[in-house]
Amino acid sequence: MEFRYKQPVEIVFGAGARSRLASVMESRGYKRAVLVADGVFAKNGIADGICATAPVAAVFTEFGANPDITAAEKAASAVRSVNADCVVALGGGSAMDLGKFTALAAASDESARELFYGKLPDNGLPVIAMPATAGTGSEVTGVSVMSDAAHGVKKPLVSSAFFPAVAIVDPELTLTVPPSVTAASGLDAIAHALEAYWCRAHNPVSDALAQKALGLLFPALERVYRDGKDIAARTDMSLGALLAGMAFAPTRTAAVHACSYPLSEMYNLPHGEACAFTLDLFVRLNSECEAERMGALCNALGFSSPADMSDEIARLKRVTGMRRTLAAIGCDDALALAEECAAHPLMNNNPVALPAERLAAEFSQLK
Ligand SMILES: [Fe+2]
Repeated sequence: MEFRYKQPVEIVFGAGARSRLASVMESRGYKRAVLVADGVFAKNGIADGICATAPVAAVFTEFGANPDITAAEKAASAVRSVNADCVVALGGGSAMDLGKFTALAAASDESARELFYGKLPDNGLPVIAMPATAGTGSEVTGVSVMSDAAHGVKKPLVSSAFFPAVAIVDPELTLTVPPSVTAASGLDAIAHALEAYWCRAHNPVSDALAQKALGLLFPALERVYRDGKDIAARTDMSLGALLAGMAFAPTRTAAVHACSYPLSEMYNLPHGEACAFTLDLFVRLNSECEAERMGALCNALGFSSPADMSDEIARLKRVTGMRRTLAAIGCDDALALAEECAAHPLMNNNPVALPAERLAAEFSQLK
């Protein structure tokens, strides 16, 4: 057996951990930050609270769900204009993606557009990531998903420079996330852990992280969906999503994420819902060739079989109102969708090869 596992991000975890920002910055010698934050935190006082206790020189909130290079250019100018030496990213995946890209752009002579289409530099300003959803794992990955909205291009950019220096994971930041986003983010995290476990590139460290993540995420997801203020369940979700992120950061994901990109591009599904769409299906399909390992995972998690785990995911999707059929997402051409899914590069990291015809037949039977 041979493997490599690298995880360069310092992790500060706990309810209220956001108050540690100032001491984290001081310990690393960072003098002045720009805070890239979801707009909701500017309105609800959380950003003000952070600015009152840490040396934050400016707050940038001008971006949407798909952060693009125009926003990054503006944010990078804000960083340069106050001479900041680090970027703090507070929010869901969008804020963290933009924060990471901004930190690179602010330290580069090239424009955000040139960086987006060209070769990424090896380093930028340090990022402190403060996730406010439990899902993406972006706080511990070297990926930034960015868009060029003017040309309709959206792509995940991968660079070791995108690993944050520090992740401050405070479950209290997720208390106000609405139920639908909570559910979709949580199913995304479950997908990260399962895909890290069953993908071709899996290793013993990612296996262990994935199993621990799933043990936290499965029991907590319905609880946080029904009661967003349940801090114990929110804590389990934040920790589970963090561990799932650490599991898939080096292995990448597989078929579920391969399918999620066409589902989002062709049928406009949010990322978490797009992952949930095929997750229960791939638990069954991938268990056909990974029977022993999937059996061991199910055993450890209290499922009687992969079919039992698949049923539980389907139940969670029903309970949380996810769209589950081709009709529900407005798809009347299963083969066209399946061809896009089968051609996605992440499909090569799946343990089972799935031709488009087989995928189309499986998609058509989703209920
Ligand atoms: Fe994901």
